[in-house]
Amino acid sequence: MARLILVCKVSATVLLAALLTNSSNANRQKKARGSDDYPPLWDNVPDSLDGFVTIHNKTVINPWNYLDRMGMYKILLNVTAKYMNNFGPSNTGNVLWGLPLQHGWQFRTGRLADPSNVSSCGQQTGDLLCISTTSWWSCMNYYLATIPFLGAIEAGFFDEWPFEIEILPPEEHMDDFCYNTADCHILIPDTMAKWTTFFQDNPGIVNNFGRCELNPIVILTYISVPEAQFGVSWGNAVDFIAATHFPTNFNQTNVFQVYLPQRILLSSDKAPSIPDLSKAENWALIALDILYKGNKMTDGQLLNFWRRSMCSEKGREEGRYLLENVVSNPDLILPGIRKILLEFIKNHNCVTTDA
Ligand SMILES: *[C@@H]1O[C@H](CO)[C@@H](O)[C@H](O)[C@H]1NC(C)=O
Ligand SMILES: *[C@@H]1O[C@H](CO)[C@@H](O)[C@H](O)[C@H]1NC(C)=O
Ligand SMILES: *[C@@H]1O[C@H](CO)[C@@H](O)[C@H](O)[C@H]1NC(C)=O
Ligand SMILES: *[C@@H]1O[C@H](CO)[C@@H](O)[C@H](O)[C@H]1NC(C)=O
Repeated sequence: MARLILVCKVSATVLLAALLTNSSNANRQKKARGSDDYPPLWDNVPDSLDGFVTIHNKTVINPWNYLDRMGMYKILLNVTAKYMNNFGPSNTGNVLWGLPLQHGWQFRTGRLADPSNVSSCGQQTGDLLCISTTSWWSCMNYYLATIPFLGAIEAGFFDEWPFEIEILPPEEHMDDFCYNTADCHILIPDTMAKWTTFFQDNPGIVNNFGRCELNPIVILTYISVPEAQFGVSWGNAVDFIAATHFPTNFNQTNVFQVYLPQRILLSSDKAPSIPDLSKAENWALIALDILYKGNKMTDGQLLNFWRRSMCSEKGREEGRYLLENVVSNPDLILPGIRKILLEFIKNHNCVTTDA
């Protein structure tokens, strides 16, 4: 099995950008979605701080446990619901849904388990709910769960809560993460500041943040080459998706997630002919790869081109349409690219803040 050292260069801010740029009027909900689209074990996840253990006047959250980490999301959804009412019924329009749904997919597909197989953390036969510090996905997701939660704490969402809230460090790789607002302001100042602002400014108001660089958090992990390539190309695609102001609400995220591989990729996997993945999942892997390689070959110019094209609402609409159809309806790709090219030309005066 090919071994590859993957650097968890946290692109948390990228998904944050996707969240913050949610456009409330993008109501292209395609499919009615049932409750089976909730993340795994959703009903067992605590939805308030009462659901966590409080000892010695401290409420303890263990982000290395799936239910606890998901609990932070459920609480955030809960406390922000009142700001997201205009976006859809029953909090389905909440733009924070993108995060727990992605996390649920990571859990369901085994991506939070120890990839080195040294421990049984996250394995079906071991400690299933354990989230491994050696998984790249789990590392990335840490910054997309704990930092938003600390941002909400700092913004005063839990000021009424009578106890101190403590985030537990993992047993290993302790120095790769931060556990309270003060330390996170030092480790990842931009991201921390942005999440706090997100919660201070009534989440849901359309914000147009650019992305910011993070101090790379280095985690070494051993995974197959196809899985590593998928991880990297997924991170790249999120930049493109964010530029379209893709609404990361419940329905849209579920529609989008169907195309992500429903299991970890093995070294023998070669899209588009991975037999146990759907045709759409196979093609999505190819599309992500093309996007990644195209952007790399052009030294990032493809993303710059895309961002300028997405400067207008018309461009973003075309961009979302293209992304939504690129896998299921290849006939639309060329006309789509033509329309986006047109927007690129029209938007020549546009200043992209996030470049
Ligand atoms: C999500 O889908 C449900 C079921 O079709 C619908 O009732 C709801 O309005 C949708 N939510 C949003 C935000 O569009
Ligand atoms: C918890 O806080 C209360 C009220 O401040 C205090 O009376 C009590 O001694 C504290 N308990 C512990 C274990 O620190
Ligand atoms: C938040 O959770 C509590 C249960 O802990 C529930 O009573 C309340 O309705 C929830 N609020 C929202 C907005 O979902
Ligand atoms: C991981 O370990 C288990 C037993 O501990 C074994 O059955 C399984 O095949 C191993 N998986 C890989 C990918 O090495």
